[in-house]
Amino acid sequence: MIPVSVAPMLDWTNRHYRYFARRLTRRTLLYTEMVTSAAVVHGNREGLLAFHPDEHPLSLQLAGDDPDELARAVELAEPFGYDEYNLNAGCPSERVQKGNFGACLMADPPLVARLLQAMRSATDKPVTVKHRIGLEETPRYEDMLSFVDTLAATGVRRFTVHARIAVLRGLSPKQNRSVPPLRYDDVYRLKEDRPHLKIEINGQVRSLQDVQDHLKHLDAVMIGRAAFADPALLARLDGAVFGDFRLQAEGLTREKVVEQMIPYLEDLCSRGGSPRWVFTPMLGLFAGRPGARSWKRGLSGALPDLPPEQLLGHALASVPRDVQKESLA
Ligand SMILES: Cc1cc2nc3c(=O)[nH]c(=O)nc-3n(C[C@H](O)[C@H](O)[C@H](O)COP(=O)(O)O)c2cc1C
Repeated sequence: MIPVSVAPMLDWTNRHYRYFARRLTRRTLLYTEMVTSAAVVHGNREGLLAFHPDEHPLSLQLAGDDPDELARAVELAEPFGYDEYNLNAGCPSERVQKGNFGACLMADPPLVARLLQAMRSATDKPVTVKHRIGLEETPRYEDMLSFVDTLAATGVRRFTVHARIAVLRGLSPKQNRSVPPLRYDDVYRLKEDRPHLKIEINGQVRSLQDVQDHLKHLDAVMIGRAAFADPALLARLDGAVFGDFRLQAEGLTREKVVEQMIPYLEDLCSRGGSPRWVFTPMLGLFAGRPGARSWKRGLSGALPDLPPEQLLGHALASVPRDVQKESLA
């Protein structure tokens, strides 16, 4: 099992972010944004599912509540070559609840088991699930254990737990990522009680030290918001977690990352894409370093009237040279 991943994040972990993230880490598991099974079955599949070969290893996160439709979505996604499929049983947004998927699925463990079974029947690749500790109505550790046992009976072996309950009424999705308290100990206990299952923890992991601390207890760690706000964090994972020092040997710096994104940007713009699709994932590249603010300013607001390929270089020039050239890996 891959011991560290970047969380699925709607509007954030799109293919442009993932291509950029791969400049910083080759080994970390990446996830798509959540895609509904209905969109895969009825929508523009190429637009929703296509990805760059560099993005491997990549998990497709699906959301839905109809076993047949989820199985069909997996079947239709197979030719795209995803490395695994993940079911979203943890997202608390109202839109998602209206569709009866995401976190509200936790109220119906047998249904979630059927969904996972259906997905497994459509692929030989691993099928995994991302969920919460529980819901407001089922907040106890024992509730989660029973939920996990019901799902594990289908043969699913990998569980990602966002270490909080979800509050479906009264809290926004954003509040649901900070208001219910973190319960890391319950996730550690799950691994102790079910050592044969692979357990990944998620929730407020912000540093390499946090990753390493959790890995003392668990099989894997999922990084969410910090991977977007401070993507340079990803550059230390290959060496420290995987013992893979290739990027370090190549002398990874923020300047090199920016240079590597220029051909990608040119190609995208030549096919009618917007430079902002590339700039948004890159906004945090200098987080915490001198020049972070001017870099962000250079990539947002009114952009200077330059050809797209020169815009990145222009923003980079506003950052002190020594920061551009700092070693990252
Ligand atoms: C902008 C945004 C979009 C998100 N979209 C999804 C999603 O599509 N699927 C999902 O399972 N979780 C989604 N999440 C939740 C994250 O995957 C993760 O569980 C959560 O942010 C907690 O991890 P963190 O504290 O490291 O950020 C989203 C979070 C954010 C901030």
